[in-house]
Amino acid sequence: RALRDPHRPHFHFTSPGGWLNDPNGLTHWNGVYHLFYQYNPLAPAHHRIHWGHATSTDLVHWTDEPVALVPGTDGPDRDGCWSGVLVDDGGVPTLVYSGRHRDRELPCVARGSADLRYWTKDPANPVITAPPEGIDITAFRDHCVWREGSGEGTVWRQLVGSGIRGVGGTAFLYESDDLRTWRYVGPLLTGDASQNRGELDWTGTMWECVDLFGIGDGTDVLVFSAWDEGTTHHPLYWTGRYKGDTFTPVAVHRLDYGGRYFYAPQSTRDEHGRRIMFGWLQEGRTDEANAQAGWCGVMSLPRVVTRGADGRLAQAPVPELTQLRRERVEVAAGPLTDPYTRLHPVRGDQLDIETTLRLAPGATARLVVRETPDGAERTVVEVSRTHDGASGTLRLHRETSSLDPAVDAEPRYGELPLDPDGRVDLRVLVDHSALEIFANGRPLTARIYPTRPDEAVGVGIGADGDVSLERFDAWQMASAFPEDPRPLWP
Ligand code: FRU
Repeated sequence: RALRDPHRPHFHFTSPGGWLNDPNGLTHWNGVYHLFYQYNPLAPAHHRIHWGHATSTDLVHWTDEPVALVPGTDGPDRDGCWSGVLVDDGGVPTLVYSGRHRDRELPCVARGSADLRYWTKDPANPVITAPPEGIDITAFRDHCVWREGSGEGTVWRQLVGSGIRGVGGTAFLYESDDLRTWRYVGPLLTGDASQNRGELDWTGTMWECVDLFGIGDGTDVLVFSAWDEGTTHHPLYWTGRYKGDTFTPVAVHRLDYGGRYFYAPQSTRDEHGRRIMFGWLQEGRTDEANAQAGWCGVMSLPRVVTRGADGRLAQAPVPELTQLRRERVEVAAGPLTDPYTRLHPVRGDQLDIETTLRLAPGATARLVVRETPDGAERTVVEVSRTHDGASGTLRLHRETSSLDPAVDAEPRYGELPLDPDGRVDLRVLVDHSALEIFANGRPLTARIYPTRPDEAVGVGIGADGDVSLERFDAWQMASAFPEDPRPLWP
């Protein structure tokens, strides 16, 4: 087992060892952020999932807490405590999660101690004993729970992710007065899995990890992860209007162009009124490589999600992360005349790069990171503008990110919104194997695994066509963990 894995991020949250997947139970409780997560502490494999727990007061530095939920020796969660949320039940922190027994998941409840460290499962679990009757479903798990109404009329509402066989993914709506007894209301919204099959916005046969919230101006958003027959696809969101017992959709959009590299996101409204979202960065290397490393799965950097000018979601890393910025290197503004220039003063595998570019119609700009001196390994972030100037594309090339043929090298891309002036605000965060890109508010998250990690620290920039560099700043990023690199246990 590698004692120091060069692919392990230093300012993204990772579990102390073993396996990490979805963020769960996100909350900002009396000034402390709580991040729970799908966790197998015993091995880097998705098996008998626990709830790991970490806390932070600044969304940057995290403290490991005792494991919050352990699968029962018997009972409805003996095969795993799957994804769910934390709600405030009149001052009592309460988890609603999916208890797994064999291949069936059902909603369970646990009450927490005041410090959210110790959890007592409800003897009445599971609190819903079967999926809705008479519907042929593909799966039934993951929860979004909120309190609705005012005065006497308040009620708990819950969405459970599911799918109707032969139709598409869905979220079933339930109602309760006490979080223990639930009335089935009906499907809030159902997708059409026959549409866009194979496309990047295919809505799946099952919706994992549904998350419903408002983003202002009368727009509501239903986030979900499209799933099919054991395969994770990509996170999507509907914009629309949630009213009464239904969600009237306007359109479906991709949440992150990295697809499965930003999977199963969950969000919470923090005590500052911000919508904060985390997602799971899956691995792009083999199971054997994960086993060798002793850990796997990265939590995304926390993001602030707002309503963009175009009515879609705009995403940005939380401003708190700038605390980790150390030495800054600036590159002078001016036209980018070369197809490629190595920026020698900028180097590293822990970087935060912020640049503003202006692209004429037909132009392309590229930012290269994690490049070896001979250029054999390099990762290319590309932004381009169409010849008519009307739209753009954000693209990530990973074909040469690694010389290891076993790691995933598929390119990733998506639409880049552009104003008539062709301005692109690009932010690239490099943290060893974790890469998060934000271009005009659209994110693209992925993993990269250079085979010569110590040499793959070069950065460069270039352009084809008429591109001007308005600003370029790069910072070395400090580690978020007191011990660097984060030790692996046991
Ligand atoms: C999404 C997911 C959820 C499930 C959890 C299991 O990645 O499959 O649907 O609750 O992970 O760990």
